[in-house]
Amino acid sequence: MIKACIFDLDGVIVDTAVYHYQAWKRLANELGFDFTEHQNEQLKGVSRVRSLELILGWGNVSKTPVEQTELATRKNQWYVEMINRMQPSEILPGAKEFLQTAKAAGLKTALGSASKNSATILERVGLLPLFDAIVDGNHVTASKPDPEVFLKGAEALGLNSAECVVFEDAIAGVQAAKAGSMKVVGIGSPEVLTEADLVIAGLHEMTLEKLQALDLLQK
Ligand code: BG6
Ligand code: MG
Repeated sequence: MIKACIFDLDGVIVDTAVYHYQAWKRLANELGFDFTEHQNEQLKGVSRVRSLELILGWGNVSKTPVEQTELATRKNQWYVEMINRMQPSEILPGAKEFLQTAKAAGLKTALGSASKNSATILERVGLLPLFDAIVDGNHVTASKPDPEVFLKGAEALGLNSAECVVFEDAIAGVQAAKAGSMKVVGIGSPEVLTEADLVIAGLHEMTLEKLQALDLLQK
């Protein structure tokens, strides 16, 4: 029986993907190259360190580990400047409402995000009180598609995998949920999130009925 919802943050609760993109683009431009919005899709759900490796690869740029740490820190400073100005109006449509609906129905809620900035973002947009547990990039050693972040989310809620449904917009995140034997609702396009049990355009399309239907689904 489903007892909890575990939400990814970027692209599910808030649209911070655009800020990540702007900050990475600025860094790439300073290094003398650029990358496309299409390439940016590959960065979704991926850790900061891995994102930098991918971007340096696209630009054919090689950096020492010390330089890479410095570059990732610089990108994060720009990103933090942007998220520090975030407003509650930047919550994605239906996200707050579905969190409230789930909690009112007695379901537990957790965050399962790769970001190390999740607490800042949730605080800025005023959603922190709607989560029973927060598991993010500060608490895991393995990145999505490894299931660690979602398994730790379930554990923090005192539940097992079969009792949790994950909400994810990234392919790596959907794979992580599946690897953790959890049902997963994809946020985005069914052509992209092919492994999800259900795909919706956003949390504004989510209902308790759809959640219950997932319980009956054998997959
Ligand atoms: C994920 C984003 O949620 O968090 C990625 O989809 C990002 O784009 C990752 O790289 C890590 O975020 P942060 O805030 O720790 O740099
Ligand atoms: Mg995401």
